[in-house]
Amino acid sequence: MFHIRIGGELIGKSNSNTESPSTGTLLLCFVFLITAAVNSSVMAQSGGEAAAKLNINVTRIVSPISPTLYGLMTEEINHSYDGGLYAEMIQNRAFHADWEGTPPWDLVRRGNAVASKSLDTSNGPSKPLSYSMKLTVAAASDGNEAGLTNPGFWGFGLRPNTTYLGSLYARVEDSAIGPITVRMIGNATGVVEAQAQVAVQPGPWARYEYKLTTGAIAPSIANHLEFTVSHPGTVWLQLVLLMQPTFNNRRNGNRIDLMNRMAAMHPKFLRLPGGNYLEGMTVEDRFDWKKTIGPLVDRPGHQGPWFYWSTDGLGLLEFLEWCEDLNVEPVLAVYAGYSLGGSHVAAGKDLEPYVQSALDEVEYVTGDTSTQWGAERARDGHPAPFPLHYIEIGNEDYLDKSNSYPARYAQFAEALHKRYPQYKLIATDGNSEYETRVHPDISDEHYYKSPADMMDLVHHYDKASRSGPKIFVGEWATRSGSPTPNFGDALGDAAWMTSMERNSDLIIMASYAPLLVNVSPGAMQWPTDLIGFDAGTTYASPSYWAQSLFAAHLGDGTAQSSISGANQRFFYSATVSAKEKVLHLKLVNASSIDQPLSLTLTGIDGAHTATVISLHAATFEATNSINEPEAIHPTQATASVPGSHWVHAAPALSIEVIDIPF
Ligand code: AHR
Repeated sequence: MFHIRIGGELIGKSNSNTESPSTGTLLLCFVFLITAAVNSSVMAQSGGEAAAKLNINVTRIVSPISPTLYGLMTEEINHSYDGGLYAEMIQNRAFHADWEGTPPWDLVRRGNAVASKSLDTSNGPSKPLSYSMKLTVAAASDGNEAGLTNPGFWGFGLRPNTTYLGSLYARVEDSAIGPITVRMIGNATGVVEAQAQVAVQPGPWARYEYKLTTGAIAPSIANHLEFTVSHPGTVWLQLVLLMQPTFNNRRNGNRIDLMNRMAAMHPKFLRLPGGNYLEGMTVEDRFDWKKTIGPLVDRPGHQGPWFYWSTDGLGLLEFLEWCEDLNVEPVLAVYAGYSLGGSHVAAGKDLEPYVQSALDEVEYVTGDTSTQWGAERARDGHPAPFPLHYIEIGNEDYLDKSNSYPARYAQFAEALHKRYPQYKLIATDGNSEYETRVHPDISDEHYYKSPADMMDLVHHYDKASRSGPKIFVGEWATRSGSPTPNFGDALGDAAWMTSMERNSDLIIMASYAPLLVNVSPGAMQWPTDLIGFDAGTTYASPSYWAQSLFAAHLGDGTAQSSISGANQRFFYSATVSAKEKVLHLKLVNASSIDQPLSLTLTGIDGAHTATVISLHAATFEATNSINEPEAIHPTQATASVPGSHWVHAAPALSIEVIDIPF
């Protein structure tokens, strides 16, 4: 039996058991009339547009959905880590001279204090940090303090009743200089929001800890930090840290609000460590993972490809702990001998050390503590191995004009397969047609498109060969908004996700890029990034909402479906959660006219209440921002689905995620 309800009124019902040859003609007329009534009613709802026919059969699953379809990809770009996710609050804590041109440290000289600062390249607490900031104070007293000030990463995000943990390496020759006073000060008010003292002892380099605790202050970012003394003397400083509270209270961990944003995307993996950040501009500036582990004082940092220095405070172990905290698996990209500036290491003998480094890296991630690098990981504080299934060899190696990738890929793949046959290998050739000696399990393909071009790409994989490697869409984004996607981008992204879900038998993983952007003036290198933030708060772009909703309503199989009569900018995905018996219907209407739909839902019998979550904006250009973070956000409603026939209109410029139980 089926019921047809239009505009809330039951207008027809039929029971197939009662059908007989004598009633056939009558039934045909009835169906014709009903169809005409449905169309005219839907046309009336939509201002005259004819209803498209969308047929979905929830009892016929035509292809599986990969459970790992949606994941995360980030790298050190737009101050994603230093000045972003990594909980460090001090900018250029190691006084690196090439820190975006000028170190942001400046002299403080209150009243009649006399002091100077200089970089001492012959004096530091460790070999990798063999230099330091030398503060020479000729005159200082109480009220006439001298020292150094740091602006933070475009401010210091302070919250009430919060403790911030600090440490520093210092060396003094004479105790007469007295303690170092650390003060967090409001930029506009001069009010000291929190302070502490560090009693430094004469002698060799030593590490000191301090704590700053705020009272009942209002949250703010317009603050700076000062380290001052009240007596003449000389002090050398290095690795001056201040960490904000971290997700899961992780030591040397990540900022809580950004981790919460990522967790709410329901990711299944984290592709790490990049992107171009893996390669560096030169071979020398690659992500050399061995230099990113161990005590912070033993990490030299390195020049990233996005024009600023990385502290590597967020190093390989911290990437893996981030995975653990979000309960996702790493997709580990190993450096494969090509760097973005165009240099490459030739396959063969020259490449061997890099292959060995990759083998060691996998051992650091997965080896037990009886292995050399598993033991190293245990010494670094994490005895348990991390889960791993996928290893990616390189990044965007199709840019290597020397065409050296097939040979480099083969050398890495042979060594990795031999030692770790259980892992799937990902090639970055972009077209999966490379004739390598070892065929990749998976091909990483990247798409950065305008809204119009992304929508035109939606059927790209529908007819793609299923006999080659699986696809990892390791980077993708619809790009027109800046710093974060606008609603037109969200529509392009949602349209593209309908395509990835439909083709998820082939596309087993996908990750939008870049994920994070510090929106403070001068912090961004790449416009159109999913999540915006400053020193104090974060905001979600319309695309973020679309992606979170799609991932939260993924399903495990794509239902058989067909559509006719829809506008050119209408897209949909129909997936099913078999055990829960829910149809997840995603409707993306990127057109400026409503799209009326006449849905036939085979397998959905009787009346059901659907949950409809909608995202809508008036224009493609409408967006969210740090000052208007909620301009576009999801709203939730319910709809009555009377049975296997449902009339619904997808509003102009809207993304709807509809759950229909059956
Ligand atoms: O996501 C930004 C950059 O785009 C990545 O680093 C690189 O892999 C791609 O070209």
